[in-house]
Amino acid sequence: MNVTLHDRTRHFRTVTFDPRHNAVLLIEQRLLPHEFKIVPANDFRQTARAIKDMVVRGAGAIGATAAYGLAQGARAFRGRNLGTFGRHVETVYQTLQAARPTAVDPVNAMNQVRQAMQAGETVEEQQALAMAAAEEFANEDVRHCRDIGKHGAGLIRSGMNVLTHCNAGWLAFVDVGSATAPMYAAQEQGRKFHVFCDETRPRSQGATLTAWELAQQRISHQVIADNAAGHLMQRGKVDLVIVGSDRTLGRTGEVANKIGTYTKAVLAARHKIPFYVAIPLSTIDWNLKAGFDIPIEERCESEVLGAWGVAAGAKSAGRVYVRVANPASGALNPGFDVTPAELITGIITPAGIFKPRELWARRRELGYAD
Ligand code: MRU
Repeated sequence: MNVTLHDRTRHFRTVTFDPRHNAVLLIEQRLLPHEFKIVPANDFRQTARAIKDMVVRGAGAIGATAAYGLAQGARAFRGRNLGTFGRHVETVYQTLQAARPTAVDPVNAMNQVRQAMQAGETVEEQQALAMAAAEEFANEDVRHCRDIGKHGAGLIRSGMNVLTHCNAGWLAFVDVGSATAPMYAAQEQGRKFHVFCDETRPRSQGATLTAWELAQQRISHQVIADNAAGHLMQRGKVDLVIVGSDRTLGRTGEVANKIGTYTKAVLAARHKIPFYVAIPLSTIDWNLKAGFDIPIEERCESEVLGAWGVAAGAKSAGRVYVRVANPASGALNPGFDVTPAELITGIITPAGIFKPRELWARRRELGYAD
């Protein structure tokens, strides 16, 4: 996506790889929108830590980071013994997988890389195949997001108000984004519309990241408090909801997404507002049979008890944490929730828009492999 900084516009991907230094390069998302910085993760453990600490976040972006991280770990291996190499790769895989448990993209991405590696007969060949497969996962993520845009653009008409939750924009992927892809495509087609970004407490990805992206893209938008959506819906001020997903069950059409998504889906159903979920194919979990089985990440209570930001009037962009809640109170912080299929109007995929319960019947088109 294009980023304009100090009057200079350049294209960036959220995640790239520097083969010379065997480093994964990431936009440091915790600093946005106050500072734009690219940071290296110099080995697979640093890459896993960057995912865990949310230097990089969002389903597709952590998928691509895990794919590159696996290749990075594989390339760091010295030796020729395939058995030892296989055990090393397994450690790399497990370390990266453990970093964020709810999103399925990292698992799907690393499985794709491991599958490709099998064609290699030596450690060296497998290392090269891992690198190529990680690059292909990242490129595929971009193609999928563009195709989501093509299929979803028609949902957005001029004059509409669109609500989105969290950040399923290009920062959450390698480029383009999932929920934002139809917005960017509709804008390219000349439509004018307005976006409400839920602030998305506790980490405020809507207020910081989605709002920054939309501002960069010159799309009309406002940040709203998470609790404002019901009121706006009741007053006829929301025409359409588009969100992303961290894991969508191919067998049931249930969608795990950032905490608060379920609440918005219930409200949208109450007000008969279409509620769409945009996903690349790497977000589909074809194995799990029930939404209750999706592991829901519980994050640190400090995220709920306070907030990060830049002090008003501060000379440098340095972020500060301020405690908001009562000092003697603790917090519970589930990161995601699961929206049942009946609350979802349609799933926007790279292969078209489907009813959530249609996914299983359309599984061959959607990349399911026996
Ligand atoms: O915790 P995060 O920021 O990694 O959460 C993921 C998300 O950004 C959202 O849940 C998003 O809507 C789906 S990811 C494309």
